[in-house]
Amino acid sequence: PDPGWTARADVVVVGSGIAGLTVALRHAELAPERRVLVVTKDVLSAGSTRWAQGGIAAVLDPADTPEEHHNDTMIAGVGLCDGAAVRVLVDEGPAAVRRLIETGARFDRRPDGELALTREGGHRRDRIVHAGGDATGAEVQRALVSAVLAEPRIEIIEHALVLDLLRDAEGRACGVTLHVMGEGARDGVGAVRADAVVLASGGMGQIYSATTNPLVSTGDGVALALRAGAVVRDLEFVQFHPTVLWLGPDSTGQQPLISEAVRGEGAFLIDADGERFMPDRHELGDLAPRDIVAKAIMERIDATGAVFLDARHFGEEKWRVRFPTILASCREHGIDPVAEPIPVMPAAHYASGGVRTDLHGRTTVPGLYACGEVACTGVHGANRLASNSLLEGLVFAERIAADLAARREPPGDPVPDRRPSGLIDPRVRPRVQAFMSRCAGVLRSRASLAEAGKAVTDARWTPAAITPCTEAWETTNLVTVATVLVAAAGEREETRGSHWREDHPARDDGKWLGHLDVALTENGL
Ligand code: SIN
Repeated sequence: PDPGWTARADVVVVGSGIAGLTVALRHAELAPERRVLVVTKDVLSAGSTRWAQGGIAAVLDPADTPEEHHNDTMIAGVGLCDGAAVRVLVDEGPAAVRRLIETGARFDRRPDGELALTREGGHRRDRIVHAGGDATGAEVQRALVSAVLAEPRIEIIEHALVLDLLRDAEGRACGVTLHVMGEGARDGVGAVRADAVVLASGGMGQIYSATTNPLVSTGDGVALALRAGAVVRDLEFVQFHPTVLWLGPDSTGQQPLISEAVRGEGAFLIDADGERFMPDRHELGDLAPRDIVAKAIMERIDATGAVFLDARHFGEEKWRVRFPTILASCREHGIDPVAEPIPVMPAAHYASGGVRTDLHGRTTVPGLYACGEVACTGVHGANRLASNSLLEGLVFAERIAADLAARREPPGDPVPDRRPSGLIDPRVRPRVQAFMSRCAGVLRSRASLAEAGKAVTDARWTPAAITPCTEAWETTNLVTVATVLVAAAGEREETRGSHWREDHPARDDGKWLGHLDVALTENGL
């Protein structure tokens, strides 16, 4: 739709989680003469960051080293991590966490005042800082929101769904169009002209029917980037968190997460016969990388009917102090983890792939940056290491802010976009989500992916023109991303990291030690 109003900023940041707010804050410090506008689809704190439980991984213990963090990250990524990007992550991580503490985030500390560090799957050291026991994301979000609200150089528009990128005649980003669900002068569809655009819009878990992600995670950033001609990478690598609270076969939407830190503190998995099964599967046992634990759980559910997380030995006091959020959420659903094992199941959790960037967060479209879950910086490879996601958002946000501050050449005026745009009927959303979970979820095959492919193709068929509205734009984004994901998952005929092909159960380094890059041209994918 044609924009009804136009605003102007130097930089537009799309999204308000750890990545977006850190870019905005650091840019305001580094380039105080420039105006940053943060646009966010809901309220400032509605995204995934605030739901993070476990914590942020960084080398903060003098006995730990960046080499070890690098090594654990590379192993978890099963051959597809970019070593240079991981180097940046682990080397710059500790300083970025300290800056977050200076910004106001309060992490849990030991009685001697040092940061309390825990462990999660795939880490061979205790290196995860946490807050409020298991409410790390909520504390990080609180600290960042309060710092951003205190910074007059940052403007905020809430309830604004970004629709498309504006580009100049040379293809450079020069702003965005957006739909503001509000009142007054900025109601409806508008345009924001800017010299650079930062996508920090989070993930895409809502393409599945059961996910740990909040409702807003509909793949908007990846879909926008695809429409703008940017390259996206590794979309087939969707990480399934091994342990969400199992609420029955028909439970859909955002599922209650049971943090991996619970296993980090000594909980263990058992099957329906009460047998532990992880010690025989991996040298790290219950703390094996996530893909390995998720697969083992699926196999034990198949064999015995159910899998449980047993942490009864923590006792009431440890549960209350260390995992208050999880304790409350289990009890709310009628499970008392002090007295009984918790029924668990894997659910879609994190997109390891996304919009491809270089080490400064630059995408393949000049002037368009990507940061956080929407990006594929190369640090996660085929399977993200636990608690590296908040860290990635922090570290690369700092780099993007520095790159933005050094930018000198403004883009030109926007030119009309000739790519065809069609909206998808929002009523198809639950059907697409169900097919994605059943056919392109934790376990895939050529046949199941063909079914998922048909479902996303059918979703595009609409009997009549669709009225533009948030639900229709979101569904269009969700189906766009699902289409690329299914195509990539069909193409990669091997099992690697979080991509598990029943019909190609082995890892194939001879053929598949590389990435699937996808870009949308005027003729399709
Ligand atoms: C968790 O707390 O288990 C989630 C942490 C993560 O996704 O890195």
